[in-house]
Amino acid sequence: MGNLTNKAQWVDTSGNKIHAHGGCIQKFGDWYYWYGENRMDDIYVSCYRSKDLTIWEYRNNILTIHSKTEAVKYETDLMLVRDKDGDYGPVHELNLNRVDPFNKVNIERPKVVYNEKTKKYVMWAHFENGVNYSCARACVASCDTPDGDFVFHGSFSPLGNMSRDCTLFKDDDGTCYFISNARDNMDMMIYKLTEDYLSVEKVVNKIFVSQNREAPVVFKHNNLYYMLTSFCSGWEPNQCMYSYAKSLDGEWKQLEKCADEITYDTQPAFSITLDGGQILYFGDHWSGGEYFSSSYVVLPLEFYNDNSIDFKYVNSFNIENGKYLIKED
Ligand code: GAL
Repeated sequence: MGNLTNKAQWVDTSGNKIHAHGGCIQKFGDWYYWYGENRMDDIYVSCYRSKDLTIWEYRNNILTIHSKTEAVKYETDLMLVRDKDGDYGPVHELNLNRVDPFNKVNIERPKVVYNEKTKKYVMWAHFENGVNYSCARACVASCDTPDGDFVFHGSFSPLGNMSRDCTLFKDDDGTCYFISNARDNMDMMIYKLTEDYLSVEKVVNKIFVSQNREAPVVFKHNNLYYMLTSFCSGWEPNQCMYSYAKSLDGEWKQLEKCADEITYDTQPAFSITLDGGQILYFGDHWSGGEYFSSSYVVLPLEFYNDNSIDFKYVNSFNIENGKYLIKED
């Protein structure tokens, strides 16, 4: 086990920089899997795994421009690269007639959950056409194994809504929810997914209306549903805020500030609950201009009796036996 320094350039067991931005970590069996954006070459999403959350082994580029495609909805678009005019088209033709240099689309904030019924690992992410940010769609992919080659099921507008920054939340009863920005980032939608997690079934709530929140992170603590979000300022950091509710379709409390006014120069990516019960904030330390220098920050969340939360900056840490330990410099 090794100490990790927040905002440093973390590397995998082969010494290569870890590219898993805007992602998520899920425990499947004995392993933690870390999924995230990787904009290198023909890659979209990379996967690493670890037993202790500090030593990461590269596993696979699970979504690339060459990924197999298979529609799950008739109105779905299967494009993973664009033709030379930037036009949409069926992915098999585009891949065969790929122009050089090819035009990639954008796949952002990928989140993966396991579906016990279908035994599939299902990914949802934010999809843009690679030209501008006007596409505003969700996309879905799935695989039989956590780190295999995912099949791309296409991009679409959930129930006709725009969809940008997003996350997934799987509740204790196995129901899965997709949470994403709609109406040009004005509102946050909470959708219930279908049983196979491949489509949206219905809207269960519309929250933070006209408040321009993005980067949603949802977790459960003490029977309350919490959400951490940022404001919309692109790659520039801003004040993280949180809210909570007794149920996802219930009333969410007014947003309150946590961390500092630039969230220690990070934006929420996801949270993870350790075996010992601690909940960690996982943030992206973006370098917008030099995307590949972007790094990560992991901090323990603090909970108070009045259901408020906060987190403080820590330079170095280790995770030992399911516990986050602050390391003195
Ligand atoms: C952020 C968003 C990121 C990325 C970035 C691009 O606001 O949370 O996921 O889309 O903008 O400008």
